Amino acid sequence: MARRLRAVATAAAILCGATIGLQAAAQQAQETPSEDELYERPYIGEICGDNVVSRKLYNGARRYGNFCHRCHGEAGLGSSFAPSLVDSLRRLSREQFEDVVVNGRKNLVAGQEKVMPSFGHVTDVVLYREDIYAYLKAVSDGELKPGPLQRGCES
Ligand code: HEC
Repeated sequence: MARRLRAVATAAAILCGATIGLQAAAQQAQETPSEDELYERPYIGEICGDNVVSRKLYNGARRYGNFCHRCHGEAGLGSSFAPSLVDSLRRLSREQFEDVVVNGRKNLVAGQEKVMPSFGHVTDVVLYREDIYAYLKAVSDGELKPGPLQRGCES
């Protein structure tokens, strides 16, 4: 009888351990984003407070301000010149984004030409396109609010 009880207890302990192990694995899977996820959302791990960001996102926002803001508006929210990139990034992949930025695009809408200039020759855009994308994608996904950012994630 005592042996049987012990066996039941051991089985319960093993089951319990397995459950905890599974939970830990699930939690880890949640905490460790896949490569694909990191590729499409390179802001993961770069935000450490309310609009407090890493050097990468800070740089992205700064380059955005230098090269894109005048047409695409505050935080990529759009203007009368150019569409909202915050909306665009809900459907564009990172490749599609980079393709338009590097090669530009012309579009004739109702007799009016809309021109997205090509930035393929602008070193500071080509070099930092991932940072710009990461910044805009974070705003698009609601992880950053439009407005000033503070730098400070690096320990
Ligand atoms: C001179 C104005 C201007 C500047 C500067 C500019 N854009 Fe654009 N951009 C446009 C216009 C206009 C369009 C829409 C083109 C169209 O209708 O096809 C556009 C389209 C885009 C698109 C495609 C959006 C979609 O929904 O398909 C992306 C991505 C984009 N711009 C990113 C950028 C980035 C990043 C920068 C800065 C490096 C930038 N743009 C700078 C005018 C500009």
